[in-house]
Amino acid sequence: MTNLAVDICGLKMKNPTMLASGVLDETGKSMLSVAKAGAGAIVTKSIGKDPRIGHSNPTIVELPQALLNAMGLPNPGIDAYKTEIAEALEGGVPIIGSVFGDGEQEIAEVARAMQDAGVAAIELNLSCPHAKGYGAEIGSVPEMVEAVCRSVKENVSIPVFAKLTPNTSSIVSLAKAAESGGVDAIVAINTLKGMVISPEAKMPILGNRYGGLSGPAIRPIGVRCVYEIFEVVKIPVIGVGGVSTGREAIEYIMAGAKAVQVGTAIWKEGPPIFSKICREIQEFMEEFGYTKLSEMTGVAHHGRT
Ligand code: DHB
Repeated sequence: MTNLAVDICGLKMKNPTMLASGVLDETGKSMLSVAKAGAGAIVTKSIGKDPRIGHSNPTIVELPQALLNAMGLPNPGIDAYKTEIAEALEGGVPIIGSVFGDGEQEIAEVARAMQDAGVAAIELNLSCPHAKGYGAEIGSVPEMVEAVCRSVKENVSIPVFAKLTPNTSSIVSLAKAAESGGVDAIVAINTLKGMVISPEAKMPILGNRYGGLSGPAIRPIGVRCVYEIFEVVKIPVIGVGGVSTGREAIEYIMAGAKAVQVGTAIWKEGPPIFSKICREIQEFMEEFGYTKLSEMTGVAHHGRT
């Protein structure tokens, strides 16, 4: 009998799937629907100190095998969002609070408020590719990553995960910096910075011009990043980017991920995707004789120099 249960830094998950930040996590009710659908954990929308409207429309473009989005970190601010978290907690699965801010002090302050709201862990958005002064502008510099991680760790007692950007020449340096800053796990990857131009309109389609690319097109990049990070850090790695099937989740697990987040695929398949991915992981494990997820974690590293 296969067992999909996984413990990430003390978070007890009944399976290795998590809702990725930014999809179906604006309200307590939408997060409850994901909990009921079988996700092992839920990451909230990225939340800041104060309310933000976000970028002007259009904020999303659908592409073959990908989405390009620039929402602009719209959110109600941590004080208003606390009621949504309270509702989401009724779902009985660990809630991970995604936070952003303009520097170590503000990020630590929001993380502290998230902890007070009752979340089980913090995910630091050090990787939004297009919000001025936030996300990847802080998260592309190893020294800043380390400082933010250290500051948040000093201000909360729950586990802290650092979500890193692939828009860098060395995600490995960022992962090492986050680990030096004391975080408990690495989440890789966030979206890739991109642009789509309308030849007819002679202008970029997104209101913000630049956006973050997600979906199946980025999966090989995500898998490569998890593979590289697994070789240089001791803390757990959580994989994200383009997962919509059990086999794709297993790619990340074999690269070294202990859990896998699912975001863009929900756009097409909705919350049932979580139980579908788990069923497919289980079928694969039965076919190939695995009884525990840990028997697959990182196995793609064996036998390679
Ligand atoms: C947004 C944030 C992200 O972290 C990302 O990868 C893409 C978009 C946003 O809110 O715009």
